[in-house]
Amino acid sequence: MHGDDLAVEVSAMGCKSDDGSKMALCPSLQYGRRTFQEGRLATGAAKTRFTAWLGKQHRRLVYVDWLADLGPNPALRRLRLPVCSQIVQFGRHAWRGRLRAPRRVCVPASPIAKVCAIRGHARRYGLRLFVETGTCFGATTAAVAGLFDKCWTIELSEELHAQAKRMFAGTNVECLQGDSGTVLPKIIDDLPAPALFWLDAHATGGSLTADAGYDPILREVEAVVRSPLRHVALIDDARGHNFGEIRRLAGPTRCSMRNDIIRIAPA
Ligand SMILES: C[S@@+](CC[C@H](N)C(=O)[O-])C[C@H]1O[C@@H](n2cnc3c(N)ncnc32)[C@H](O)[C@@H]1O
Repeated sequence: MHGDDLAVEVSAMGCKSDDGSKMALCPSLQYGRRTFQEGRLATGAAKTRFTAWLGKQHRRLVYVDWLADLGPNPALRRLRLPVCSQIVQFGRHAWRGRLRAPRRVCVPASPIAKVCAIRGHARRYGLRLFVETGTCFGATTAAVAGLFDKCWTIELSEELHAQAKRMFAGTNVECLQGDSGTVLPKIIDDLPAPALFWLDAHATGGSLTADAGYDPILREVEAVVRSPLRHVALIDDARGHNFGEIRRLAGPTRCSMRNDIIRIAPA
């Protein structure tokens, strides 16, 4: 190759030209630089995704550890961890010098499991009326109201009750304000047919939620089982209740506990 041609070729690849000025890159090199930059961008995005994924896995492990520390609970559903998570959990225990096997992990029922339990019992027992204690933000009632002809929901907090009233205005949901231990027996006396009860009134420690200073669940169960109608009651957060006492009130053949829900149904 002639010396001048070589100079042009080298300079065209982005090197200094003979007169010392920087030459423009040839099209193929520009393309190469662009793909290199795109590659760097893609690597950056992949790194961000990978970091986010690592963070998610870490949070998941911390949650599993927290659940494991709660210990086994017959009221809760046993969590089946995937084999790789079991191995990681075991490794973490060993790393911390705890050489015994990680504890059984149990989880409270998810909101969707609660809605499924309500739907399942309503269908199975042909119930068209729904009564909830503890409205809170009205999420459960809103999710199941379409299944029933009429719903009642009782909330102690005046603010939450006012919110729910606005939310359910013009629907088949009637919002009542007061202590469910007092209001529920009155509703039961006026019910024309068997109903499905979702008993979920308790202090939660939230800034808006109310605390009656006692747990109304035994009064509620007493009112349900005293009624001559064949009602069905589901009690949420079974892990926080005295199952023995509820079973004694409802009768052992009618009462069972699964997936963090106590179920009282006709024998
Ligand atoms: C766990 S939250 C209810 C959640 C709601 N049932 C749902 O599924 O979305 C409990 C609610 O019960 C209310 N509450 C507490 N004690 C009560 C009582 N004695 N009577 C009625 N509501 C009560 C609290 O203010 C709180 O809003």
